[in-house]
Amino acid sequence: MTSVTGMENCVISLDKVSKVFGKANSAGFYTAVDNLDLKVAQGQMLALLGKTGCGKSTIFNMIAGLTEPSEGRVTVSGHDPFREFDAFRGKMAIVFQGDRLLPWRTAIENVELGLEILGQSAKQRRSHAMSWLERLGLRGHEHDYPHALSGGMRQRVSIARAFATNANLLLCDEPFSALDEMTGKRLRTEFVKLVKENGKTAVFITHSINEALEIGDRIVVLKRPATIAIDIPLTSETRDDAKEAIRSRIQGALAA
Ligand SMILES: Nc1ncnc2c1ncn2[C@@H]1O[C@H](COP(=O)(O)OP(=O)(O)O)[C@@H](O)[C@H]1O
Ligand SMILES: [Mg+2]
Repeated sequence: MTSVTGMENCVISLDKVSKVFGKANSAGFYTAVDNLDLKVAQGQMLALLGKTGCGKSTIFNMIAGLTEPSEGRVTVSGHDPFREFDAFRGKMAIVFQGDRLLPWRTAIENVELGLEILGQSAKQRRSHAMSWLERLGLRGHEHDYPHALSGGMRQRVSIARAFATNANLLLCDEPFSALDEMTGKRLRTEFVKLVKENGKTAVFITHSINEALEIGDRIVVLKRPATIAIDIPLTSETRDDAKEAIRSRIQGALAA
């Protein structure tokens, strides 16, 4: 099992990280993340669980280099994701809640988009993108525009886009929460399989206990403002035997 501290093979490290919005002592001042320490080991699939508004997306945005911490330090593979944003091109793939596909590009063109920065030829891009669309069950839909696809299919395209870049780190912010339960469950299972088969490190944000239990090798439960309430490593055995105990522990932490 991957160790929880994972100091020896840590990919993501948040060290005493805080994020405040607004000016100190002003009405809009708000601490969204408070002195958070979190390390994610290579190959780990971390489910980051918390109620809406507890600061999950703020943490996500700091790891993705979209925003800077107010205090503390965030490193991804030893680099600062905000200040060295270019160093992460093609190394980090992101799946958001909305599929964020470009409406004027077909499914395959959307998948190809992420490959353009990798310097592949047009022909390579096309066949690579096609192979990922096929793996996600979208053969025959490659030339469809997003509006012609169902929500589940669009989210499959965005997963294909993320995996096609071959990035070792996947960051997902509630990617399946807008889908119906059955579609979400099916995509989760496929997603976990793909992450494991391809040896990725993944941070998966969710507000659903079920989803966290299905996805994570480790569940970190956050309470507002984002600080760690509990940190639970899972193995295949604990997932089967002690799921209910873990579920009630999580419920207790979220209610507290
Ligand atoms: N850009 C911002 N300016 C001011 N407040 C913000 C901003 N982004 C988020 N917040 C606040 O920070 C808190 C955490 O937000 P967020 O990280 O989006 O939570 P979550 O993703 O867990 O639902 C919320 O109270 C939100 O209103
Ligand atoms: Mg959010």
